[in-house]
Amino acid sequence: MHGVGDVRFFDRVAPLYDRVMPAADGSVLAAGLDRAERPIDRLLDVGGGSGRAAAALTGPEITVVDASIPMLARARRNRGLSGVAGDAGRLPFRDNAVDAALVVDAFHHLPDQGAALLEAARVLAPGGVLVIREFDPTHPLGRGLAAAERAIGMDSQFLAPDALSTDLDAAGFDAAVVDRGFGYTVAGVLEDGS
Ligand SMILES: C[S@@+](CC[C@H](N)C(=O)[O-])C[C@H]1O[C@@H](n2cnc3c(N)ncnc32)[C@H](O)[C@@H]1O
Repeated sequence: MHGVGDVRFFDRVAPLYDRVMPAADGSVLAAGLDRAERPIDRLLDVGGGSGRAAAALTGPEITVVDASIPMLARARRNRGLSGVAGDAGRLPFRDNAVDAALVVDAFHHLPDQGAALLEAARVLAPGGVLVIREFDPTHPLGRGLAAAERAIGMDSQFLAPDALSTDLDAAGFDAAVVDRGFGYTVAGVLEDGS
């Protein structure tokens, strides 16, 4: 099935992941989270892996959700984070459960990106914010990254910032591109559907 291979890849590289990855930049994530229209007490880090992005944040109660058990084990053991095994397209949380959700360097690995956006909208309370940090496939470095991931057999599907922002709007968010570049951030505030 599309996307399963990507998770198996992270199962295998989990022991090395935090040794080779740079620390996440908490300030760019905070700029996206600042768009929330409610206090952020509870945050889900979807596709949060070993908790690298969660570790860059302070304040909310954070739960890491990931489909790779070896990645999650590191979030729990090395960072003391709460971790839940689950698929971004079928989150094991009730409606309106959290105030914010993050997806950092993971959205392009998701086999059903539309389902992941709808699930984020379901578990967020109105006024809550979804922050997605991704790589731009129209940037020269993004083209290289997309080619490299294809070459190692990943199913990655990268979206440019405006296309991702449009997809968030279609899923019920009021979205904006927070920053642009090779890495970029889109943040969407969940509109009150009532
Ligand atoms: C590049 S890592 C990013 C991890 C973390 N967000 C970070 O910034 O370090 C991508 C993560 O997405 C997870 N992932 C891939 N497909 C997934 C899915 N369908 N549901 C949940 N997690 C998924 C992988 O297991 C992996 O931990």
